[in-house]
Amino acid sequence: HTPWPGLIEAYRHRLPVCETWEPGWAPVTLREGATPLLPARALSELTGCDVHLKVEGLNPTGSFKDRGMTMAVTEAKATGKKGVLCASTGNTSASAAAYAAIAGIECAVLVPAGKIAMGKLAQAVMYGAKIIEVDGNFDDCLELARKTTATFDTIALVNSVNPVRIEGQKTAAFEIVDALGKAPDVHALPVGNAGNITAYWRGYSEYFADGIASSRPRMLGVQAAGAAPLVNGAPVKDPETIATAIRIGSPASWNQAVAAKDESNGEFRAATDEKLLEAYRLVAKTEGVFVEPASAASVAGLLAATADGWIEKGSTVVCTVTGNGLKDPDTALSSLPEIARVGIDPVAVASAMGLTE
Ligand code: F0G
Repeated sequence: HTPWPGLIEAYRHRLPVCETWEPGWAPVTLREGATPLLPARALSELTGCDVHLKVEGLNPTGSFKDRGMTMAVTEAKATGKKGVLCASTGNTSASAAAYAAIAGIECAVLVPAGKIAMGKLAQAVMYGAKIIEVDGNFDDCLELARKTTATFDTIALVNSVNPVRIEGQKTAAFEIVDALGKAPDVHALPVGNAGNITAYWRGYSEYFADGIASSRPRMLGVQAAGAAPLVNGAPVKDPETIATAIRIGSPASWNQAVAAKDESNGEFRAATDEKLLEAYRLVAKTEGVFVEPASAASVAGLLAATADGWIEKGSTVVCTVTGNGLKDPDTALSSLPEIARVGIDPVAVASAMGLTE
């Protein structure tokens, strides 16, 4: 039994860009990847499909971003950068901060003021990143990050517009095919800046091209209704949604996302905040998987697409749940049920449980 080495070592042969780095480079890794593909019993029963959850919230910093960040920070270190910079709705900043911390290089994160979940901010603080709030939304932050790194070449841009990020993230598709022994029929995931749908499609396509999988899934990209540029077919100027992670109006990987949808015979869908929250609660309560609101978009998409027949009964479906629910305690607690309060009294406890019989 050899311990999991992290995804660069595990998939090195499928990450050719590594060969272009200076000899002697070493992976900057927190042993990310190898996340569970969890059979979702309740969702399967509800939809008549064979549903699995790819639980990306179990990565080292609690989101899928770690797959891209091990690559981006390894490259930054290998190419002698002094610091890394990203724009972020929260998860990218937490991940960049952690990997920069172990690489021993500077990290700054540009976040939309007041619009990132508390847990993510707490992570970036603890990992020692410089936090810079921007008066604007994610799209403004990304523009600023691009301009800064274009001007100062000792600073690496570690958003998913950095191609090595996508290379790292494609490994999630490899893991799914490795675990299922085939590609699913449908793959549902939340879409914000559209890097992840680009990455999954690349991963599935590479396995397909090499004959490791005999098919590729239809890609179902799910956006929040108030931030659904790909569904509308036009950028959204003032995106708004409770799912702050995907509050993005102008996705950087627009063309690649559209290609993934078209080539896979897939679809983009929008889910209202109400539907997102419904799915968010359902997946916690029935599957025991606490995700953040944006992550529930994949499940909301599954429910809508099975209800209207876009996904046929009997299909094998994978939903990526992208981030850990602990990152956003405020949303979880905003629907706090009445809390019982008792003295040191066993009868009162059993009675609060409704189990006094
Ligand atoms: N789910 C979560 C939890 C995210 O944090 C993000 C993106 C997405 C889904 C969408 O992925 O952008 O590749 O389409 N978060 C970025 C960030 C924007 O800054 O953390 P995408």
